[in-house]
Amino acid sequence: MSVALRELGPGEVDVLDTVFAGLSETSRYRRFHGGVPRLSPGTRAVLAAVDGRRHLAVAAFAGDEPIGIARLVSTSGAPAGRAELAVEVVDAWQGRGVGTRLVAAVLALGADAGFDEVVADVLSENGPILRLLAALLPDRTTRTDGPETCVTARLRGTPPMTPSQTSAEVHRAELLAAAQAHRLARAARKRRPRRPLVTTLRPRRVPAVGGDAA
Ligand SMILES: CC(C)(COP(=O)(O)OP(=O)(O)OC[C@H]1O[C@@H](n2cnc3c(N)ncnc32)[C@H](O)[C@@H]1OP(=O)(O)O)[C@@H](O)C(=O)NCCC(=O)NCCS
Repeated sequence: MSVALRELGPGEVDVLDTVFAGLSETSRYRRFHGGVPRLSPGTRAVLAAVDGRRHLAVAAFAGDEPIGIARLVSTSGAPAGRAELAVEVVDAWQGRGVGTRLVAAVLALGADAGFDEVVADVLSENGPILRLLAALLPDRTTRTDGPETCVTARLRGTPPMTPSQTSAEVHRAELLAAAQAHRLARAARKRRPRRPLVTTLRPRRVPAVGGDAA
């Protein structure tokens, strides 16, 4: 099954709810730094309030099924400067490159939107996100303070790197395709309000189980 990425529009709460439902307790803990059995209306409203400038998000879909979201939120409220990164992939699709592609796509979107620095506050025990960021942001600064680790990196002029030498060409091609699709999408949005789309990607293999991992 192919995986498609597209920019998330404002108010797409169904996408938020489906991805949240596919996160295990551990994944929710790692994403929200605490036990979150359900999305409160307030949190859902904040997460749905993307505006394409100060709050950008890219979602991944397997067919029609939302399977992950990566977002950048301005830390100053301004549509430039520093943005905070957050990402989640439903458990059934983790370890297949979806998170890497989502983060690469949202970083490209963020750089294009004018952000020049990204910061990610993650749990120090969260190996997957730390490895993912190390692969995509080789020139990052990492500061660990007990259970929390803060990763900071320049965004503009720092093209996302590939996660491994062996898959470098594939990832490079995908990133270029995503960036090109994004430019087209932005141009289209100027003509018409929000025409969703970024690009279509293929995972290396179909997941063993469906999206029902909650
Ligand atoms: C962190 C998180 C987003 C990573 O998403 P993911 O889709 O599993 O990430 P990827 O698949 O891109 O990378 C994970 C592994 O798959 C490998 N991988 C990358 N591309 C791949 C591909 N095409 N095929 C197979 N494996 C691939 C990576 O090398 C990586 O291996 P490693 O962890 O041993 O280094 C996911 O684990 C998650 O949602 N966790 C819960 C929420 C969270 O922790 N968020 C971060 C804090 S905001």
